Amino acid sequence: MAQIPRTRQDCEALDRADPLGGMRARFDLPEGVIYLDGHSLGPATHGALERVGRAAGEEWRSGLIRSWNNAGWFDLPARTGAKLARLAGVAPGDVVVTDSVSVNLFKLAAAGLRLTGARTVMVQSDEFPTDQSIAAGIADAGLGELKRLPPTDALAAFGAYRGVIIRSAVNYRTGEVADIDAWERVAARAGNLVVWDLSHATGVLDLRLAERGAKLAAGCTYKFLNGGPGAPAFVYARADIAQQLHSPILGWFGQKDQFDFGAAYVAKDGAARFATGTPPVLSLSALDAALDAFDGVDLAVGAAKARSLGDLVIARTASLGLETISPGEPARRGGHVSVRHQHGYAVVQALIARGIIPDFRAPDAMRFGLAPLYVRFVDVWDAMDALGDVLGTRGWDRPEYHARAAVT
Ligand SMILES: Cc1ncc(COP(=O)(O)O)c(C=O)c1O
Repeated sequence: MAQIPRTRQDCEALDRADPLGGMRARFDLPEGVIYLDGHSLGPATHGALERVGRAAGEEWRSGLIRSWNNAGWFDLPARTGAKLARLAGVAPGDVVVTDSVSVNLFKLAAAGLRLTGARTVMVQSDEFPTDQSIAAGIADAGLGELKRLPPTDALAAFGAYRGVIIRSAVNYRTGEVADIDAWERVAARAGNLVVWDLSHATGVLDLRLAERGAKLAAGCTYKFLNGGPGAPAFVYARADIAQQLHSPILGWFGQKDQFDFGAAYVAKDGAARFATGTPPVLSLSALDAALDAFDGVDLAVGAAKARSLGDLVIARTASLGLETISPGEPARRGGHVSVRHQHGYAVVQALIARGIIPDFRAPDAMRFGLAPLYVRFVDVWDAMDALGDVLGTRGWDRPEYHARAAVT
């Protein structure tokens, strides 16, 4: 394990030696803010801001409908998908940008069930709520039967049923990384499929999904990929499997030769068949540009840095007497660390008032996001100093910090 810095000077030295240190300049970070919430909403890159201005101010305003062809709008879902494919470690043509994660999980799990000819749609009981309700909705729609698997024994249970599981590659609450190879081995043995939810994984791990046997995945782009609020999600479907899959939502953007306006629906080849309706061009343009922040980034180096930053959070919060619910072993951890505090919500609000932005997940988890492209060791050090101060002075115990906002 890399040495955990013991002083702010150690942190400064690590930042000076950081091969990703130059990447921070690609982001337009507000002054006076330490941003530790990239696992919820990544910050804007200069490139994305410039591109949204151009997409709206030139391509839409002047180009009008011509921009579908002249500005390359029509191909954006596939071109942006190819950039995402590098980050997921899959073939460039196997990813398409479309819809939200929730909708994509539905399409992939339903299509997967139909392909396996099996009935069980599985989900762990500690999954992100949308993953659970999408699985339940598939059962409600009569497409399968729901099985909620206990997290402690999920892999064995998965191998004992026949069907499809929706499974996060990184748990939203704890940051724990799934053993993708092991799940895919069990899936192959049982004739099952895993639909990976990559929402907390892409951009912060060296995923190498193809070589690990992953076949299907959906993921969000507004977290560690910095695509912007509500940026469209993506679908990965390995070409050989994709060709046999039937999306349950046959929209015209998944249709081959859609501008022939023929009566028969012939699905596009590969992952592109999971596109549905007209893509949100302005958001997609922002995402396309934002992904360039990863140009030249060695994903393994990024993952290692995120874990070292996480080690620092764990060490410093432990010295404050706080318990982490994230794995202590760096290799089992994604890009965020969660720490428990009974008044975690109020503590997070007190930190935000000081310009330090983590987030909170009920009932008691304070999440610290450690995006390797722009978070520095000194940022984590200073944030932990502030946390110590907020706790030591009970600075969190003010009425305004207890009042829950709609979004936490
Ligand atoms: C694991 C996970 N899946 C899915 C989502 C939500 O996806 P969407 O809003 O694009 O449907 C989130 C959002 O935080 C998430 O953490």
